[in-house]
Amino acid sequence: MEKEIVVSGIRPTGFLHLGNYFGAIRNFVRMQDEFNCYIFVADLHSLTTHNEPHHLKENAFRVIAENMASGLDPEKVILYAQSDVPETSELYLLLNMLAYKGELEKVATFKEKARQHPDNINAGLLTYPVLMAADILLHRAVKVPVGKDQKQHLEMTRNFANRFNNRYGQLFPEPEAFNYGDSLVKIGSLDGEGKMSKSKNEMSTIYLADSDDMIRKKIMKAKTDAGPDKSGAEKPEYIQNLFTLMELVSSSDTVQHFNEAYNLCNIRYGDLKKQLTEDMIHFITPIREKASALQNDSTRLQRIINRGAEQARESAQKTVQSAKKMMGLNY
Ligand code: ADP
Ligand code: TRP
Repeated sequence: MEKEIVVSGIRPTGFLHLGNYFGAIRNFVRMQDEFNCYIFVADLHSLTTHNEPHHLKENAFRVIAENMASGLDPEKVILYAQSDVPETSELYLLLNMLAYKGELEKVATFKEKARQHPDNINAGLLTYPVLMAADILLHRAVKVPVGKDQKQHLEMTRNFANRFNNRYGQLFPEPEAFNYGDSLVKIGSLDGEGKMSKSKNEMSTIYLADSDDMIRKKIMKAKTDAGPDKSGAEKPEYIQNLFTLMELVSSSDTVQHFNEAYNLCNIRYGDLKKQLTEDMIHFITPIREKASALQNDSTRLQRIINRGAEQARESAQKTVQSAKKMMGLNY
């Protein structure tokens, strides 16, 4: 049986963090045997908000290195840079004819970025979900491993795919956001406000490149309080965030121990932080070390993305040719 097609991308806008790891990369790694995976560095998407030409290559290579250090195998998945596959831009242009200004203006990520940077509300930012739809539909993917924050973008991709199919005939399957387990993951920021993100306060986001000392410092500074005052109290978001991290990197006995202490109202957050720090260091150190070794081998990384682009273009060309033909661009 043909393997199902999977697409996902990560923007090269900074150091990868635990949100990227648990929201996306961990799923890529688990999917690589079972599915036909296309994983790419979303460098064109990064241009909607970032314009630092001299850091782009370094950031893009780091994304590849950190993905591989996390277990992604370039022999099993097609790893490429978005801008190396010009068919992406071609399909993006075609899909733009199916996207309406009103629906694009309603997208939460657009509204948020427009509010944060009122001086740079460019057309690329508005059409960000169209470019993302092009990435996914280019390979006719059915599963898209992403974190919770990307759910709305996936809905838009399905809308554009359906609109195309209704207007021009069946070409695209309807892709879905995917995560192992029953819900999409959100890794909260250590200050209790919003999610960990490349563009957040650096001290409240844990990066895969953080040193042991830095991890210790960040966890020790994480927001807590005096603890619950009645048994069965609900955990505030910043406490739940620490438990979520613990569930991901610590043993189930450890999690159970602190959950019990929380419910008995005798939890000591200092102890929880110490244990979490130790387990986090144990988790991150091998990834950091592998990524750093890979990053020093830029010839190898270059070879991997060149081959990835060739393979991605093969699949992309077929889709773009069909789309153009169906739209009447058939000379
Ligand atoms: P960032 O938001 O830090 O710039 P990206 O937008 O490049 O990261 O996201 C890459 C992938 O990581 C996406 O699949 C996204 O859903 C996931 N992701 C990012 N932050 C988090 C988070 N805090 N929790 C869960 N998943 C996340
Ligand atoms: N928009 C995604 C993010 O910010 C990155 C991305 C771009 C992506 N194109 C994609 C993710 C295609 C999945 C599929 O995280």
